[in-house]
Amino acid sequence: MNDSTPNAAVTYGHYLALDELLSLQHPRSAGPEHDEMLFIVIHQVYELWFKELLHEFDRVVALLTDDQSHRAQHTLKRMLTILKVLVAQLDILETMTPLEFLSFRSRLEAASGFQSDQFRQIEFLLGVKSRHAVNRFPADSRARRALEQRWEQPTIWDAFLHYLAREGYAVPGAELARDVAAPIESNGAVREVLAAVYRGDAKNAELCERLVDLDEGFQEWRYRHLKMVERTIGMKPGTGGSSGAAYLRTTLGRNLFPDLWEIRGTL
Ligand code: HEM
Repeated sequence: MNDSTPNAAVTYGHYLALDELLSLQHPRSAGPEHDEMLFIVIHQVYELWFKELLHEFDRVVALLTDDQSHRAQHTLKRMLTILKVLVAQLDILETMTPLEFLSFRSRLEAASGFQSDQFRQIEFLLGVKSRHAVNRFPADSRARRALEQRWEQPTIWDAFLHYLAREGYAVPGAELARDVAAPIESNGAVREVLAAVYRGDAKNAELCERLVDLDEGFQEWRYRHLKMVERTIGMKPGTGGSSGAAYLRTTLGRNLFPDLWEIRGTL
């Protein structure tokens, strides 16, 4: 009986493709250096969580589009819990000293998390889209196709604005028809809508709060990654070709959904 036979017993190993999964860690250093295994495993685990997050993003956008706000909130809660795990995982990498990292760093050559297309896909869904991030990948690669597709897709913010309009709020038509690849800008009329939601609509105010959690959680990851980078390589340039920590600092402090933050001062 082989695996495709309908009555073949499902085993843990087969279901999870464990033989394949456990053979995917290939240290490049001579020895190999002890800490390179941690470095590979943690990046692979991140990529798996990114995959799961993208799966949940697609669901939350579909649920909002279908006006199922309660279930959308439930999904957002799961995503936020994953995001907390992603931030917490950086603690493990911080047990690696600068010298332990240096023992194999040169073997990474130009490889860097900078080239994670799934991270860019998440950014795209959050409204941070860049042609440069798309063009970095060869035409016809899995990464390029995925990013091209995400480029065209509405962001979670767009799905949310359309949902609010269907809930009866006066979201400006120009915002509903905006180019979904453009950056999310603050907008006075949207702020008025959001203020009205917070003042008189507990259900949708909760949804807004989950989006703020998502925004803050993503920024938290950026900050913790930067500090981890600073304590591991200081101000050295990155393997991905950027200035390193100096570049990463430029990505901090930008709110994804600016109107949700701006209204707080006026409520
Ligand atoms: C010792 C561990 C790490 C070091 C020293 C490090 C260093 C860096 C540096 C210097 C950059 C800037 C780009 C460049 O390479 O020039 C960067 C970007 C990035 N890294 Fe790491 N990193 C580490 C671990 C991780 C892990 C575990 C992840 C998880 C996937 C990750 C994900 C990313 C991402 C997504 C970016 C792009 C950020 C952006 O462009 O906003 N890094 N990293």
